[in-house]
Amino acid sequence: MSGNKDNDGGWRNFLWNSEKKEFLGRTGSSWFKILLFYVIFYGCLAGIFIGTIQAMLLTLSDYKPKYQDRVAPPGLSHTPRSDKSEIVFKMSDESSYTKYVTSMDSLLQLYNESIQTNDQKFEDCGETPKTYMDRGELETEGQKHACRFNRMWLQNCSGLSDRTYGFKEGKPCLIVKLNRIVNFKPRAPSNDSIPEALKGKLYDNVIPIHCKNKRAEDVDKIGEIKYYGIGEGFPLQYYPYYGKRLHPQYLQPLVAIHFTNLTFNEELRIECKVYGENIAFSEKDRYQGRFDVKFTVNLS
Ligand SMILES: *[C@@H]1O[C@H](CO)[C@@H](O)[C@H](O)[C@H]1NC(C)=O
Ligand SMILES: *[C@@H]1O[C@H](CO)[C@@H](O)[C@H](O)[C@H]1NC(C)=O
Ligand SMILES: *[C@@H]1O[C@H](CO)[C@@H](O)[C@H](O)[C@H]1NC(C)=O
Ligand SMILES: *[C@@H]1O[C@H](CO)[C@@H](O)[C@H](O)[C@H]1NC(C)=O
Repeated sequence: MSGNKDNDGGWRNFLWNSEKKEFLGRTGSSWFKILLFYVIFYGCLAGIFIGTIQAMLLTLSDYKPKYQDRVAPPGLSHTPRSDKSEIVFKMSDESSYTKYVTSMDSLLQLYNESIQTNDQKFEDCGETPKTYMDRGELETEGQKHACRFNRMWLQNCSGLSDRTYGFKEGKPCLIVKLNRIVNFKPRAPSNDSIPEALKGKLYDNVIPIHCKNKRAEDVDKIGEIKYYGIGEGFPLQYYPYYGKRLHPQYLQPLVAIHFTNLTFNEELRIECKVYGENIAFSEKDRYQGRFDVKFTVNLS
């Protein structure tokens, strides 16, 4: 009995010892000191954390990426793009190529003349290749002009004269662009780095693109390939790109590749590459400076 009472009293005493005015074995001022210590301790930790992040943010620019180790080389992307890079269609069946036409329409409508009329935002940069357009430092405020690019320059691949981009005649087009990279200036190729087929022409201010058969046995089946755009490549006056904030209207230059005499009813493998001094190719990245595409044009 008495033991029980003692035990009870022990617990109660521990919770609240009225003699010594202690709660859980500590006096009020002792509790206060401990709480104060932890408030200050965690406050300092949070302060250090926030301070470090702030200092890091101060060194970042709104305009220029701080870490750009993956800057070069740029990827190449083409439209239409499909599963396994296979473009298969039947000339006589419009529904077999509608999806390709739709994807080209939606890309090219960004290049309609009608939406590039504002002189505050766009400017003419010429229809022949020129050198880089210096629009000042990346750090400066204010939006930069974008060079106009009229889809009409893509001629028979513009979708304006032939709304099917050549598909209905079995002469399909591909639209190609170099992915945008802030502050990147592609450099024109040196004479010895370009393939035989391109030799003899001057590529001072343009990144040329060239396509050929991937397999030796297709060499006579690809037919003539035409290239439309400025200087049959990516002209340097469209570079550098200043980033989304400074260059919101920026239009990447386009190249249209027109396969005008593909052999029908066969799968043809074609490889396209761009050539520039600071553009390399990689076994690991299938779109770095190059891409593969397979065409099968069925007659009926
Ligand atoms: C762009 O031009 C094409 C062809 O003229 C037209 O069909 C399309 O609606 C236009 N798109 C825009 C967004 O202006
Ligand atoms: C464009 O297409 C038209 C009509 O099919 C043809 O007459 C013309 O030769 C083509 N132009 C080029 C540069 O291939
Ligand atoms: C490259 O080739 C062109 C034409 O073949 C020639 O005019 C030019 O001088 C060459 N440039 C160099 C650097 O060899
Ligand atoms: C198309 O290619 C075939 C060989 O596959 C060739 O005989 C023909 O002359 C070519 N046509 C044109 C217009 O180049």
